[in-house]
Amino acid sequence: MSAAPVIQVQGLTKAFRTYKKEPGFGGALRGLFHRRYEQTLAVKDVNFNVAPGELVGFLGPNGAGKTTTLKMLAGLLYPTSGSARVLDFVPWERADGYRRQFALLLGQKNQLWWDLPARESLELNAKIYGIPRAAFERTVTEMTELLAVKDKLNVMVRELSLGERMKMELIAALLHRPKVLFLDEPTIGLDVVSQKTVREFLREYNAREKTTILLTSHYMADIQELCRRVIIIDHGTIFFDGLLSDIVDRFADFKLITIQLSGAADRPAESLAKYGELVEQTPRSLKFKVKRDRQIAVCKALLDDFPVTDIDIEEVPIEEVIRQIFAR
Ligand SMILES: Nc1ncnc2c1ncn2[C@@H]1O[C@H](COP(=O)(O)OP(=O)(O)OP(=O)(O)O)[C@@H](O)[C@H]1O
Ligand SMILES: [Mg+2]
Repeated sequence: MSAAPVIQVQGLTKAFRTYKKEPGFGGALRGLFHRRYEQTLAVKDVNFNVAPGELVGFLGPNGAGKTTTLKMLAGLLYPTSGSARVLDFVPWERADGYRRQFALLLGQKNQLWWDLPARESLELNAKIYGIPRAAFERTVTEMTELLAVKDKLNVMVRELSLGERMKMELIAALLHRPKVLFLDEPTIGLDVVSQKTVREFLREYNAREKTTILLTSHYMADIQELCRRVIIIDHGTIFFDGLLSDIVDRFADFKLITIQLSGAADRPAESLAKYGELVEQTPRSLKFKVKRDRQIAVCKALLDDFPVTDIDIEEVPIEEVIRQIFAR
């Protein structure tokens, strides 16, 4: 992390002003004279840095401010206040030099030309960036192969399946070999096989090209397999920036304790409640979800009360912890 950051964000803030319509005809009439505006603070005083080649997960519940942040970093939106530098450019100044070095993929939005075969749509993108023919052919051949869409190049974009289109979008975003990549839900709505293909592609691409990537996804599998570091945002504010592996330490309130028994666990369920929440039971084992600060006491009690042959303490899976964080 000693290299100068590629992405530097300081005090970044975005307020949207939305016109609030009053219900009914009378409301519409009044609205003509007294426009009522509401302010949404989508992003509030956000700070972070990303080092060259890092692949950082940007997490948060719906409406947290992820897309708004990425759009500012891609120069599509002006911030209300604060500053950002990406590759030493101020994104919203929209310098040509910047445009050639980053890409933004919005999984929720189609960026290719609908009415053209995929190949031609990609060709148009290549023309816009002035990519030489040979380089274009090489990239398309290689990436369509890796993403298993080689036989779809002649299909009209509008006729591609969601997953096929997303893979083409990804290729379009990478044609000019950007140094920085903003990926906003690149696997949304894809089947598990396509998700895995895209994930593996991204992992290899990041490792090989050292592209700096900021990725949002609601699928924890994406985050767990791709990102060592995550930034979590909620209501426009960052409340965690660190290693994914530290989230469990910081936020998990529970541990899972499993005991194996030498005899049958023939206790009535009510009498088991005092140890914790019983989450799994087999004829020879019991598994409890136990408050972190009670784990030692509960282990001791279980060892005293049961013919225990083995005991195992596990962390709650990250996916579950994130769910708990978002539910708060
Ligand atoms: N153009 C806009 N005008 C007004 N409000 C907006 C606009 N764009 C976003 N917002 C609001 O800003 C907030 C943040 O939205 P944003 O799209 O950044 O969330 P997100 O984290 O990407 O959520 P999701 O996971 O659902 O994609 C939301 O409350 C949203 O309604
Ligand atoms: Mg979004």
